[in-house]
Amino acid sequence: MKRVILGITGGIAAYKAAEVVRGLCTRGIEVHVLMTEAATRFITPLTMQTLSGNPVVVDMFAEPRVWNVQHVAYAKRADLVLVAPATASFIGRLAAGIADDMVCATILATTAPVLIAPAMNSQMYRHPAVQANLVRLRKMGYHLIAPDVGELACGDRGEGRLADVSQIIDQVLGHLQRKADLAGKRILVTAGPTREFIDPVRFISNPSSGKMGYALAAAARDRGAQVVLVSGPTAQVPPPGVEVIQVTTTAEMLAAVLEHFPQMDVVIKAAAVVDYRPQTTAEHKMKKGSEKYVLTLERNPDILKMLGGRKGDKILVGFAAETQDLIENAREKIRAKNLDLIVANDVGQRGAGFGTDTNIASIVHRDGTIRELPLCSKLELAHHILDEVVALTGGEKD
Ligand code: CTP
Repeated sequence: MKRVILGITGGIAAYKAAEVVRGLCTRGIEVHVLMTEAATRFITPLTMQTLSGNPVVVDMFAEPRVWNVQHVAYAKRADLVLVAPATASFIGRLAAGIADDMVCATILATTAPVLIAPAMNSQMYRHPAVQANLVRLRKMGYHLIAPDVGELACGDRGEGRLADVSQIIDQVLGHLQRKADLAGKRILVTAGPTREFIDPVRFISNPSSGKMGYALAAAARDRGAQVVLVSGPTAQVPPPGVEVIQVTTTAEMLAAVLEHFPQMDVVIKAAAVVDYRPQTTAEHKMKKGSEKYVLTLERNPDILKMLGGRKGDKILVGFAAETQDLIENAREKIRAKNLDLIVANDVGQRGAGFGTDTNIASIVHRDGTIRELPLCSKLELAHHILDEVVALTGGEKD
């Protein structure tokens, strides 16, 4: 069982730490909470103790209830330290190496990864002293979870709101799951929609956000793979350390995928490829005319099916977005496209499909075995898919 030490410092967003504890505990993580005195003005140690199931430490000099020489003990036993929320003064103390509270002292004594989620008024956040301290923390190797822009407790709007709890949990899980079980593997991921143009200003597409493919690329990178991400137009930020090839049409996606396919060990096709394209694309913007307008479409190549035809010993993973007969359709696609796995999701369900941060999916294997997964974040789903890929490559599965 992984152990996270959660440091809570004194800001209004401290109440959200309760959700963080719950989220981590429900994912089987052991959580120990350390609080500064100021944090106890916003949320009680009793709340945190009840949610985490472990005693909370506030006073460095109190009689130890769990481990002796407390800050060192927590520091040594941590798989990860998270500070959420992190106030301006905590950030200043840590940047200066001042160890006069349990949270700072523990961080100074640990070798575990440290994630810091700042939350404060936007003027405070933008203050040069705070920004300089954040730069120092980053240089020291601490990971920052950037605050969101939005409504702040003081009534202002701006940057400084604690990052979304689900985002914080994803980052924690990402760091905890960092294992090198895909080291040396070359993985190609496709993401996002494709677009097929009717004229220079109009196209046929779909609402794919690209989140699933980008999560897969980031997760595979974190597990040591060399990742090529072929992406249709999306608003997602390219994950650092991943080679990103931007494409627009299905033909462009096909060309990019075929170019890289021979060097790959694994291909995961999370893109929502447009199946039909206009037979012709007008050179100039079309003017409106008659009441009815009939558009003739022709089939696009099925990229995944083409890869299936030249599969060899490569692992091919497809996605099936369905609104009915989920498993039967998924099995049929495995057969038709010669795949190893298909991630089937019922896009009709709440919390699944296009644009959401979560997904409900079943992983269907070539031999018919099905692994049903609960509602989880797209990053968690990415790791579940990669677990199956690792098992297929003969690696360890946990
Ligand atoms: N796919 C592809 N090229 C296409 C269409 C789909 O590579 N022209 C891939 C998708 O990236 C996905 C899988 O095939 O991994 C399944 O896509 P989906 O649209 O669900 O199924 P289709 O095979 O297109 O079948 P249908 O639309 O009839 O359900």
